[in-house]
Amino acid sequence: MALDPAFLDELRARTPIAPVIGRRTKLVRSGKNWKACCPFHGEKTPSFYIYDDHYHCFGCQAHGDVITFVMQSEGRTFIETVEELATAAGMEMPKPDPVQRARAEQARTLGDVLEAVQQSWQRRLYQPEGREGLAYLHGRGLTDETIAAFGLGWSGDGRGGLVTEMAEHDITPAMLVEAGVMRADEDGRPSRELFFNRVTFPIRDRRGRLVSFGGRILGDGQPKYLNGPETAVFSKRRVLFGLDRAREGVRGTGAGAELLVVEGYMDVIALHQAGFHGAVAPLGTALTAEQLEALWQVAPAPVLCFDGDAAGQRAAVKAAQTALPLLNVERTLRFCVLPEGEDPDSLVRRDGQAAMASLVEGARPMGEVLFGLLSEGVRNPGPEQRAALRRRLVEVAALIPDRALASEYRSTLLDSFFEMFRRAGGRGGVRRAPVATAPVALMDADLQRQCILTAIILEQPVVLPEVQDAYCRLELPADIAALREELLDLYDMRGELPPAAELVACLSAAGLGDVCQRVRAVRGRRMRGQEDDDLFGTDPRHEWWHFYALLNVARFADEIRSDTERMCAGELDEAAWLSLRTRLLALEALRRGGEDWDE
Ligand code: UTP
Ligand code: MN
Repeated sequence: MALDPAFLDELRARTPIAPVIGRRTKLVRSGKNWKACCPFHGEKTPSFYIYDDHYHCFGCQAHGDVITFVMQSEGRTFIETVEELATAAGMEMPKPDPVQRARAEQARTLGDVLEAVQQSWQRRLYQPEGREGLAYLHGRGLTDETIAAFGLGWSGDGRGGLVTEMAEHDITPAMLVEAGVMRADEDGRPSRELFFNRVTFPIRDRRGRLVSFGGRILGDGQPKYLNGPETAVFSKRRVLFGLDRAREGVRGTGAGAELLVVEGYMDVIALHQAGFHGAVAPLGTALTAEQLEALWQVAPAPVLCFDGDAAGQRAAVKAAQTALPLLNVERTLRFCVLPEGEDPDSLVRRDGQAAMASLVEGARPMGEVLFGLLSEGVRNPGPEQRAALRRRLVEVAALIPDRALASEYRSTLLDSFFEMFRRAGGRGGVRRAPVATAPVALMDADLQRQCILTAIILEQPVVLPEVQDAYCRLELPADIAALREELLDLYDMRGELPPAAELVACLSAAGLGDVCQRVRAVRGRRMRGQEDDDLFGTDPRHEWWHFYALLNVARFADEIRSDTERMCAGELDEAAWLSLRTRLLALEALRRGGEDWDE
């Protein structure tokens, strides 16, 4: 309870300090003031001085007014002390305002704070300030019914409106920071609203309790989505967007009642509107073991939907790897792959509900998908590669702790293995169409850069973890893309790349020796021709980002901007932070050097 300052001043004025202190320790005159042996530390000669309205000890630095003296010497709380002194001074304690008290009690928990914010944002969407946000959601095909069902809202413009409105509910900026909707500055003081000019997506846990928010910018800005930071009630690795609704949604039958895992908020919402009530999504990260556990509490074989591109395939591998050690006879996964360039939202909008339903109905079981994923990188296998693949299949099956299930997987995977080589005449294996190769002499600058980026990874395999996401985003010519896939496969299977010499040997064994040699030749020429060395010293990561930046400076700068935002929101782990630093250095060096700027 906050007390009126005027009341406290009056109380101090009516309570001379010397007699109060005199009850604890013997006072001695010192000019017009008093001194005493300090009651707070043992001493024989007085160094505790009492002035008009305060005391100070030159021995132990104890210092305060009459209220703090009583609190410290008698171990009372502030309110107890004030009550005691007020009674002695014949003053009546002010009565707390009942309205204020009711409000303060109402807004006590984090959940209540979040709900108050949610109500404000939901309301704003339908007010004049939310007009653009609402038009955006309508423009993406959402009905008012869907918008209401998911509680979508409008964050306002971030110029303090939320803080003012919440103050009326006795919610302080500090509470808004705790709830994850405001940022704090370096000293932990509330600084500014996290969400502004965004449509908001309330994130609920599986029981429907509000735990955080996501926000999407209208149109093309960066970052596209913002998620609330980790808080006492929100842990990104545990929550799945839509799981509260999906638990009800999977009660029926048919594709519409399957538990579906998709990538984004809008996918979940669009699927829901199209009748797929079991759709959920992680919050922009790979599926975690915790999320898988949560899924299996709802259904024994959730269907994971992945994009048809290389990134989607890698995400599928990651999910499978996370899931394997957790499988048992009652818990498995199924997979379905979306047409290239589509996500569930765009698919149901373009091709309708039936297209999605048939994809879901065609979802393939874990065993089959695993084989496809593991054998994917194997081209033109000789005896060594066949043996390596076979070993990988056996190892993967062995990751399943349930012995009976592990042995089933093992035989299924090996069946597929033999099947594959029988079809291929016992030797050839799955050979891909021959890939086009670019003539070295006529390379354009971008192709050179793509070669150099690949060659740096071949020479310094340790850079891959940091650069892999960016590397995956590059559109490469087919031969380099094939090399990249093999590199990433090796990395995914082993958790790290082998040292350079061994790596090139592996790649050559997989039939990629030629392209390895070509990219390295390009880099060799470049090294001899130009003194790039000076630019990045000896750090291969710096060098990598340099050439990556040259491919598309605007994109590079955008990515840095978006990661910087995420860093401010506390969303970057240490590795990502280090990477951001290297990229910033690379960008700065590039701008300083001006080299190749718009070549
Ligand atoms: P996507 O970039 O695949 O976008 O992000 P989307 O879901 O198709 O979004 P729309 O259709 O353009 O609106 C998938 C998910 O990744 C997270 C979000 O959870 C998003 O739903 N994400 C994406 C972020 O957290 N931050 C981003 O900047 C982008
Ligand atoms: Mn989308």
